[in-house]
Amino acid sequence: VKKIAVLTSGGDSQGMNAAVRAVVRSGLYHGLEVFAVQRGYAGLINDDIREMDLRSVGDIIQRGGTILQSARCKEFMSPEGQQLGADNLRKRGIDGIVVIGGDGSYQGANKLSKLGIKTMGIPGTIDNDIPFTDITIGFDTAVSIVVDAINKLRDTMSSHERSSVVEVMGRHCGDIALYAGLASGAETILVPEVPYDLNEIAARMATNFSQGKRHSIIVVAEGAGKGEDIAAEIMRRNSIEARVTVLGHIQRGGAPTHNDRILASNLGDFAVRKLIEGDSGKSCGIIKGELVATDINTVVNSKKQFNMELYELAKRLSQ
Ligand code: F6P
Repeated sequence: VKKIAVLTSGGDSQGMNAAVRAVVRSGLYHGLEVFAVQRGYAGLINDDIREMDLRSVGDIIQRGGTILQSARCKEFMSPEGQQLGADNLRKRGIDGIVVIGGDGSYQGANKLSKLGIKTMGIPGTIDNDIPFTDITIGFDTAVSIVVDAINKLRDTMSSHERSSVVEVMGRHCGDIALYAGLASGAETILVPEVPYDLNEIAARMATNFSQGKRHSIIVVAEGAGKGEDIAAEIMRRNSIEARVTVLGHIQRGGAPTHNDRILASNLGDFAVRKLIEGDSGKSCGIIKGELVATDINTVVNSKKQFNMELYELAKRLSQ
């Protein structure tokens, strides 16, 4: 490849900017011409493409969001939209692209690859729901935001002997709830991957309070239920006052942690090197510290395995 493009797509995540920077700087370092597509696949269809230089990605490694902006684009799901996108790249001589995003973005990357554009995917999502990588870009930051919020909630819940139900993002994946719940010492973690029994949770809370506990934190992944419903159901079963906090898009903003910046830098550079080698149709990831490229087809057709051992550990430690 001689000319490559980069785009960010789907829900943004902290560290996407660091990944864009890595793709641009690594591409230029290796003598490629590098272009950026604005607003994800929508920009590909609308031909919103510009050439990047070293300075275009200055001062962004520390910023949340994405300077390339992001969109969820329906038109790109049609074969006509995909062809138009590929044609807009080809007319500039762009023969490779790096797509930074989650599973929806990967479907688009897969299509571009089938249309002959050399394509690499980088997992950028707070959800940590992409298989064949231990972690996705943004997850570490999102978890640290949730942990910080729970620390604060714990203070006020203790003062008032209340219980706090904290609803977190993650779509169909319970990882944000699990990791943040374990790291903040939450009493209960509800995830879509494991069935739960509200009778048992309410009874355990009542026993804990009667034995001197002054607060209770329940973290619920959005895929496992609505915080409001869980709180109402628990209050119906015991008399402990429950308050609900829905953290929402707060989890997707702010400066990325150093872990996310380093992960993004590694994956961005790796994706460019893979394109230079002539590779295509792969998702870049990191498994046990090693950079790996896995067939996107395999990635989009597999399900991320839930870390049951960590879930059991959180349970054991939360009595
Ligand atoms: O995929 C990232 C994510 O933040 C999910 O956790 C959440 O379910 C969804 O995006 C929210 O989407 P939107 O930004 O469109 O409200």
